[in-house]
Amino acid sequence: MTLLEVNGISKVYKARRRVNAYQLFAVRDMSFTVEKGVCVGLVGESGCGKSTLARLITGLESPSAGEIRLEGKPVHGRQGWASEGAAFHQKVQMIFQDSLDAVNPRHSALTIIAEPLVNFSPMSKREIAKRVEELLSQVGLRPSDAEKFPHEFSGGQLQRICIARALASNPELLVLDEPLSSLDVSVQAQILNLLQDLKDRLHLTYILISHDPEAVYYLSDTVVVMYGGRVMERIDRIEDFDRMRHPYTRRLLSSTSLYRNWQEAGTLETEAIAIDMEVQKEGYEGCPYAGRCGKVDERCKSACPPLRNIGNGHHAACYRL
Ligand SMILES: Nc1ncnc2c1ncn2[C@@H]1O[C@H](COP(=O)(O)OP(=O)(O)OP(=O)(O)O)[C@@H](O)[C@H]1O
Ligand SMILES: [Mg+2]
Repeated sequence: MTLLEVNGISKVYKARRRVNAYQLFAVRDMSFTVEKGVCVGLVGESGCGKSTLARLITGLESPSAGEIRLEGKPVHGRQGWASEGAAFHQKVQMIFQDSLDAVNPRHSALTIIAEPLVNFSPMSKREIAKRVEELLSQVGLRPSDAEKFPHEFSGGQLQRICIARALASNPELLVLDEPLSSLDVSVQAQILNLLQDLKDRLHLTYILISHDPEAVYYLSDTVVVMYGGRVMERIDRIEDFDRMRHPYTRRLLSSTSLYRNWQEAGTLETEAIAIDMEVQKEGYEGCPYAGRCGKVDERCKSACPPLRNIGNGHHAACYRL
């Protein structure tokens, strides 16, 4: 069953460099669907539009074009979830990169986790305390942790508190925006395990955003690779991950430890990648990766290749594939 549909979504921001104002596509013509119970991994370098997409999906911002539907109903606009307020936020929750920023330092863990319960459900104080205890145990913390304040937790523990808060309203979809990047490597593995365990136990659907393909690989069923606001490549079955062939994906993978020993690693470039903002400006119609791609030809600079099916649930936006 399809839970979320992203149809031709674009988000344009007004930007300014010195006296020149211009329009910048943070996300451009993106489409994909998310089936219930799966994890879609969204991966790409800094500035490629991941957080913008997360804010669009969670209703924090409205798209400039296109439509997002949750359970068939539009997320934005008067006819959709926006008119139902709390019901949407009960179903869709977001987890942010920096857990310390995401909580009020003056609130106890109990108050933080209970926030959605107070907002969304008519529960007594006793029922709320019981539910918070249950949520704390679900994320691997102790009941006594309810009385502690944010500064008394480690980064990993605080991320667990944020996960508990997100779970409080029994959501369908969790949008996780770089949930691991502020954590130590060993703690990252623990949080990944917790997320996997919760997904299985509570039948959750995830959109997991990361700049690290390794983290995404571990948890995801489907992987979407973004660059310059566009989808470069998508693989629907994680077992086929090795088949990812877009020149940008190959370069991205070459910089991660998972693929350091990859068969073809010797032939991959490892130079750091930074997005050239020109390719996200309104008026640029070519492939955003054209300026850095070793396989570029004239076509790539004038028209962005469409994302097309190249077989077995594998989609790529490249004229060469
Ligand atoms: N409110 C805004 N106004 C203007 N430009 C914005 C705004 N939000 C994002 N952008 C621009 O849109 C582009 C995409 O930003 P976004 O935060 O979505 O990237 P990201 O992939 O999440 O990056 P990171 O990995 O660094 O978090 C960037 O060029 C950013 O500067
Ligand atoms: Mg971001």
